[in-house]
Amino acid sequence: MSRLQAEHLYKVFGRRPTDAVEKLRHGADREELRAEGTTAAVIDASFTVEPGQIFVVMGLSGSGKSTLLRMLNGLSDPTAGQVLFDGQDLTKLSARELREVRSKKISMVFQHFALFPHRSVLENAAYGLEVQGLPRAEREKRALEALELAGLKGWEKSWPDELSGGMQQRVGLARALATDADLLLMDESFSALDPLIRRDMQDQLLELQKRLKKTIVFITHDLNEAMRLGDQIAVMRDGRIVQIGSAEDILVTPANDYVAAFTQDVDRSRVLTAGAIMADPDTAYGTRTPDGKELKTAKDVLAAAPATVTESTPIIELFTPCSTSGVAVAVVDDDGELIGVVPRARLLAVLGEPMTPEDAPAGAVIPAQDISKDAGVEQDDDAEGDGGKNVGKVSSGA
Ligand SMILES: Nc1ncnc2c1ncn2[C@@H]1O[C@H](COP(=O)(O)OP(=O)(O)O)[C@@H](O)[C@H]1O
Ligand SMILES: [Mg+2]
Repeated sequence: MSRLQAEHLYKVFGRRPTDAVEKLRHGADREELRAEGTTAAVIDASFTVEPGQIFVVMGLSGSGKSTLLRMLNGLSDPTAGQVLFDGQDLTKLSARELREVRSKKISMVFQHFALFPHRSVLENAAYGLEVQGLPRAEREKRALEALELAGLKGWEKSWPDELSGGMQQRVGLARALATDADLLLMDESFSALDPLIRRDMQDQLLELQKRLKKTIVFITHDLNEAMRLGDQIAVMRDGRIVQIGSAEDILVTPANDYVAAFTQDVDRSRVLTAGAIMADPDTAYGTRTPDGKELKTAKDVLAAAPATVTESTPIIELFTPCSTSGVAVAVVDDDGELIGVVPRARLLAVLGEPMTPEDAPAGAVIPAQDISKDAGVEQDDDAEGDGGKNVGKVSSGA
């Protein structure tokens, strides 16, 4: 069973919201409704989150992320649609049952985490347990463990104002972890932090997640953060989810121009993995090593490959081997069996334009003539700082 399931969720603010949902279902757009004074904050959102997944909702400010999140824990009632948590329809629970679920099974971490200034870090971390009515000794024990998990061991007796912004955010995380909730909802939890601290928190969340295997819905407007954290990423635009997929899906086969434009600045070399771009081993058979030996079997390919990597190797690690050898890099599974190859041309091709869905079937080999176009080796003649050397330049330019 999925941990969390959103089915055709709508949230409309303003007058006659159910009428507005009907109009949306019949093709009205958001702007029309706005003219009538209603805001369609979330339109027909459906997705499932499996236990142990990090599901990221990404979109610009105003795209409906927070509104969506608030429906996931019952803080806000959907105008239409339903939310199933462990198979249970949240919209059908009584107020008391909902409070129970919210205090024990779902935790929320916000962007600006409000700590109680006159309570110690430990008391702040234990707050959710106090709400649950746990005895002091028990809540202090669990809060201490959670603080340790969040990297705050030794700070439990401090006051919030003695902590940096990043550390205060960790207290927020500890508070959520202490309740032992299965589902963590994180709304721009790291967005207010400095870039370095933010990266640190992302790493720590991933590290924690390996051990705790919570189910996390993480909201961000930052694509790089989404790509680093998300097992699945839902891209929202103007209240609608326009694509759901892995970081690779979204980079390699964006659903539309909007998503493509959004992903333009992402460092593909760190997000894409060998597994996502590899071609079938067959494509290496019949090719030759620089000294003329023909590759006929998996064994030949493995012997000749400039590097052997696994599916999860980021492609940035393939550059050096690919640049020193004309032979494809070998991709192997846990048993060392050859499962794919990455020829240089393919590596260069995926760093260029996103592929259309038709171009992208697994194992597709990009034809050689496309390489110069897609490899990013063409440059403007007036590109700065190349000292006129134009290293790697292929076309003669203007
Ligand atoms: N309580 C509310 N009443 C009226 N409009 C709201 C309310 N909450 C959010 N909205 C509107 O819904 C849209 C989506 O907001 P929000 O979910 O906060 O987006 P995000 O979190 O992606 O920035 C915005 O146009 C916002 O102004
Ligand atoms: Mg928001």
